[in-house]
This record gives sequence, C-alpha cells and structure tokens, in this order.
Amino acid sequence: MADADSPPVSIYIDEDVGSDANSATGTESAPYKTLLHALLQHPPTTPTIQYLTRKSETGPVAEGEDPSVRLEWKPATKSAMKKATKLYEGRQRKAANEKDLAIRAKEEAEKRRLVLEQAKTVVIKEDLSLPKPVRIRLDETDPEKVKLRSMEEGAEPGTRVRVLGRVHRLRSQKGLIFVTLTDGHGYMSCLLSGDLVKTYDAITLTQETSMAIHGEMRAVPPQHQAPLDRELHADFFQIIGRAAGDKEAITTRVAANADPQTLYDNRHLVLRGHTASSVMKVRAAVLRAFRSTFEENRMLEVTPPAMVQTQVEGGSTLFEFDYYGEKAYLTQSSQLYLETCLPSLGDVFCICPSFRAEKSLTRRHLSEYTHIEAELDFITFTDMLDHIEAIMCRVIDLVLAEPTTAKAVRELNPSFTPPSRPFRRMKYADAIDWLVEHNIPNEEGETHKFGDDIAEAAERKMTDIINAPIFLTHFPREIKAFYMKRDPEDTRVTESVDVLMPGVGEIVGGSMRMDDWDELMAAYEHEGMDPKPYYWYTDQRKYGSSPHGGYGLGLERFLAWMCGRYTVRECSLYPRFTNRCTP
Ligand code: 4AD
Repeated sequence: MADADSPPVSIYIDEDVGSDANSATGTESAPYKTLLHALLQHPPTTPTIQYLTRKSETGPVAEGEDPSVRLEWKPATKSAMKKATKLYEGRQRKAANEKDLAIRAKEEAEKRRLVLEQAKTVVIKEDLSLPKPVRIRLDETDPEKVKLRSMEEGAEPGTRVRVLGRVHRLRSQKGLIFVTLTDGHGYMSCLLSGDLVKTYDAITLTQETSMAIHGEMRAVPPQHQAPLDRELHADFFQIIGRAAGDKEAITTRVAANADPQTLYDNRHLVLRGHTASSVMKVRAAVLRAFRSTFEENRMLEVTPPAMVQTQVEGGSTLFEFDYYGEKAYLTQSSQLYLETCLPSLGDVFCICPSFRAEKSLTRRHLSEYTHIEAELDFITFTDMLDHIEAIMCRVIDLVLAEPTTAKAVRELNPSFTPPSRPFRRMKYADAIDWLVEHNIPNEEGETHKFGDDIAEAAERKMTDIINAPIFLTHFPREIKAFYMKRDPEDTRVTESVDVLMPGVGEIVGGSMRMDDWDELMAAYEHEGMDPKPYYWYTDQRKYGSSPHGGYGLGLERFLAWMCGRYTVRECSLYPRFTNRCTP
C-alpha cells in the first residue's frame, strides 16, 4: 500500500485521446479521458498520487512554440482538481445512499416475506353460529332486507349480509382494512379487522380483486362518509378472483394521467372507473327514455338493415365492402327505410348504428355511432320542429326523474340544467348575418356569405355565444342531401333543421322529404345519382305519397352535451374513429 514516503504514483489523463472505457488503465500509454474518471478509479486517498493531464491535440500552444509541447504531462490545475473532487464526492455520496437503500429494500423484502409466511398460517373460518347471511346487491336499501345497527349503545344487531363485488378502493389503517366494494349497481364500505386482516389474502389484496364479504350492516358515525351512510363490518371473506398488482395493477395500466392512446387501448379497464361507467349508465337511461317517449307518441320501433346498397348522406363518407361480389355499404342512416314503413306502421323510429367514413379526427365525429332516427307521416315542417323539441325535453325530464341517473348527470356535469322552451328558431340566412355581424369567418377565413356550409368551428362559436339550443332551419339545397323538400316560399332553401347545442354543436339533423315523384327524379339527376338502386324508395311517391319528415339524433353527441364530456368518444362503449377499430 502506498504511504506518504512512497514515490509518487502518476495517473495519466489525456482529454483529447484518452478513454474512460474499461480498456484504459490510467498509465501513460493508456490514459483516461477525464479527471473525474481518474479520481473514481484511483481515489485521492494519499498525497502520493499525482494526476497528470494534457490535451495532446488541442492543447494551447504559445506563439512560436513547438506544438509538441502539447505532449508534455502537467499536474492537474488546482481549480480542475477542486471541480473534479466536488463531483467525485457527490458520486461517492450517491453510491453510499444507493447502497443503503438497497440494503433497506432487501431488509423490507425479507420482512415482508416473513410476514407473508406467517400470514399463510392464519386460516379464517366462517362462524356457523352466526345468523345465515342474506345475499344483497350493494345498492340494496329495502329496510325489510337490510337493517343497520345504530350507533347507540346496546342497539339491535344489523342484518348479517353476503355481498359480492370487486375492490374499488382499498386502504389499510391501524390494523384495519377499509375496502370499498362495487358490483356495478352500487358501492359499499366494508371494514375488515381482527384475524381477517392478518390473512395472506388480506395482506395481498389488490384493487379489482373479486370477493365475497359476510358481516353485519351498521350505520356509520355521523362525521364519517360512506355510500348510503352505512358500513359492512366483516366477520368472514373469500377471494373469488385475484387482480394483478404492482406493475400490472389496474392503476398502473390506466393511470389518470396516461396519454389518450393508452386509455383507448385499455378501454376495457377504463370502463371500470366511476366516470366512464357513470356515462354508460346515463347512456342506458337516455336510451330507455327515448324508447318510452316514442312509445308515448305512438311510434313503433323498427330495425332496418345495416348492410345496404344506397347512400343517404353523400358518397364521401361511405364505408364500402364486398357483398358476395357486389359493391355494398355500411348504412349512413336508416332514414330511407323508415320512410317506407310509414304507410303500414304509422310513425316509426329506430335506434341502430350508423357508419361514417369520416376523414376528420374531430372530437364530435365517430366512424360508428348510435343513431336515433324517427319518421313522421302527414306533418308540416312546423309540426316536426315542435315534435323534436317536445321529444328532447321529455327525454331530459325522464332521465332526470330517475334519482340515480340524475345524480350521475350532476356529478358528470354539475352545471347541467334542462333547456328552457321554446327553443330559439333561426333561419340559415339569419345565421349567416349573425356570423358576419360577429366577425366569425368561414373555413377559408373569409366573411360568410349565403350558400356557405357553416363549418364546425363557426357553428360551435355561434352556439357557445348564444348558449342555448338553436333550431337552425332552411339550409340552401346545394349544401344539403338530395331528398330534402324545398321551401315553397323560397325554393333556394329546404325545409331542413339542425339542432345545435352549446359545447357540442349539431346533435340532430332533420328535414321534410320530397314527396313528389318528378321532383325526386329531378333531384337524383341534379346530384348525378343513378335512380335505379333507389326504386324502392322512389316507389313511396307512386303508391299514395304524403307530406312527411323525420330526423336523426346522434346519441353520443346528445350524451356529450348532457354529461359535459369533451368528446363523443367518451360516450361510446368502445369508440370507433379514424384508425381505431379496437378493442
Ligand atoms: O345530419 P345527419 O347526417 O342526418 C342524417 O343522417 C339524416 N338522414 C337523419 C334523418 O333524417 N333520419 O346525421 C344526423 C345526426 C347528426 O346531427 C349527428 O348528431 C349524428 O347524426 N352524426 C354523427 N355522430 C357521430 N359521429 C358522426 N360521424 C356523425 N355523423 C352524424
């Protein structure tokens, strides 16, 4: 070992050609590249070590000096030594900390192993002398089925229940485990204590594990918060299906701050969350409400085909496929089929998927969406507008009349209030004037003029400023579908309507239909459409035609508005949009 009297040991550093890789040894023939590396390899433990440096290729050369002076080794300067020593000491401290941490982690792991070993020896058995548990759902509140033990001393025992569900939330505290169980119907706070928490199953419990819990129902102390102000005091539990933990834990796979693509890839797990499942529950309630409102209006539900050979809303958004060697499409709208039902079924509706090969990745476009469509016979345009308004308001009333759905809507969209009636009605031409007055340009950045399609951005701005539902009517025929009836008072425009809602924009599109044979034939020609595949549609004008009209409402857009969601994608179970057809 070197001491103060030993001859100095030299360590060589060449900042230009040296190397900090394993092949370098710090000798003159294999110098290091950095002083820090030299210190790490040969710590400055004795004053006899000297660090000699040079820059053999780029070192300074005074005027007139021979460049070979660069090859001379010189002791590292004081300032370079100071800087490198500081870095070196930092590294030393970090290494010591890491070592400490590794030791502690190993100790912890060992401790946990012993705890788990010990836990495996704790076996719980159901106490068969207790009353037989009553199986209930987590939202069961019938006082005949579930009695709570009150907080009072000597109170009557609560019902002993058996509940099944999955761990939604989990917390250990002072020898107790608090589990919030969910079964898709409700949530229940459950308290595990005593031997139950010492078991292997309790110690390794993870979120989403499915389990059965038996125990007594009790009221919670007034200052505590629990779903339905009650708590299950467990006396027994069984694990039914474990959920992955650690790196595979659901909270890791779908972390709240995960990027949208990860969340869409893991939509099956996202749906387990409170927000996503609440939207799906509101969705079901809205569907129920539409069906019952249509029923109240004596409208019959039909289910037209999804595979078709005609277009309704223009060729650019058709999904085409091969149908036994023939060209076919996924339906854009069931409207044409609904029209054929009127003579024998009366007013009809359908709730079916519609498909649009939308190239745009906007927050309100899906490739497959749930289309609520209705068709009404022997009506005027005003009748139809009144009907749409009445249906929408009735649906909202019915949805909010269900306490659990109303609660979900309040949680999702605290500022939601049912729109006041009557809805504002505004002609397209007046909307163009409004956009001009408010300096809202068209898609080309120019001032809006009659005939322009009102693009999504402008439409949204107008709806948000007006901040109330708008019936936008009488669109020019050039920007609307071939089947729309012209306004007899101004044939430049059609008897058409878009219903616009703040935050989302258009959620309903509807119109009166051309009911005259010749007019419809002229419309096919005007659009360059071959009338042949539409013979069954055109025939309606041949066998007892009638003034009729209808509309389509995008369920996901309606929900985005009602539930205050940023995008329609959150309102679909498994959304389909550009480049996503999975999971
Ligand atoms: O305005 P649209 O294209 O009208 C029709 O399809 C008519 N044939 C309906 C009818 O009269 N029976 O579509 C109607 C509604 C829109 O207002 C919108 O809410 C929704 O369908 N919609 C979409 N929703 C999500 N993604 C898309 N790509 C949508 N395209 C239309």
